[in-house]
Amino acid sequence: MEITKYPRHLAIIMDGNGRWAKKQGLMRGFGHEKGVQTVREVVEYCVAHEIPYLTLYAFSTENWNRPALEVKALMELLVKFLKKEADALHKNNVRLKAIGNLDRFPAKAKDALLKTIDRLKDNTGTTLTLALSYGAREELLTAVKQLSAAVKEGELTTDAIDETVMQRYLYTFDLPDVDLLIRTSGEYRISNFLLWQIAYAELYFTEVLWPEFTKAHLEEALLSYQNRERRFGKISEQLK
Ligand code: IPE
Ligand code: IPE
Ligand code: MG
Repeated sequence: MEITKYPRHLAIIMDGNGRWAKKQGLMRGFGHEKGVQTVREVVEYCVAHEIPYLTLYAFSTENWNRPALEVKALMELLVKFLKKEADALHKNNVRLKAIGNLDRFPAKAKDALLKTIDRLKDNTGTTLTLALSYGAREELLTAVKQLSAAVKEGELTTDAIDETVMQRYLYTFDLPDVDLLIRTSGEYRISNFLLWQIAYAELYFTEVLWPEFTKAHLEEALLSYQNRERRFGKISEQLK
């Protein structure tokens, strides 16, 4: 079957790098490096098929609790990725965005990220959002704190807080809701990713480990998405 209906916003929990490396008898870091290749392919696919928003879960707030050496390796890999890919991203008209608490990032990684975001800021193609030091609960708490401050300052009344206002206080204020969420590596959980934004997303889980996730696997997920009926609470007949 041909894919004719693409999601507007595709989000991916890229999982299984460590297990992939272990399977090859390698250190976990090699899994992360191999995973970057998958990132490149998925970004290129989204660009080629004009998927407007791609959001990748690259590092969670909970991932700070990993062994220090692995955290360091991941930060270095991010810097390397940005350096290596910036030209190609620019050529592909990709805009870059980051969501999460970047203040916890080492200066070098934060600088590289902000510089690349700035360089790509006027691009008009696919928006690639990297979730870095991201946690949905932290995002929601930040929003709640800012909202209560705004109410206290008299800029907003409690009654005026609706879903649209809430959305404006999220890291994803300029992104639409997620249409399709993919998680690799056979884990059936959300792990604190985009809790608000996936309220009506279609979920797709695959056993494939992230470093082995190919264009063909992505197309399987997209076909599954295309064949689903998104009812948003209504009944089938109402959608006709
Ligand atoms: C996903 O792969 C990448 C990050 C969370 C940074 P993992 O590192 O979680 O790989 P597994 O789950 O241990 O196999
Ligand atoms: C989720 O993967 C976070 C990222 C993919 C960045 P984890 O491997 O950290 O998730 P858990 O701990 O298995 O739920
Ligand atoms: Mg994992």
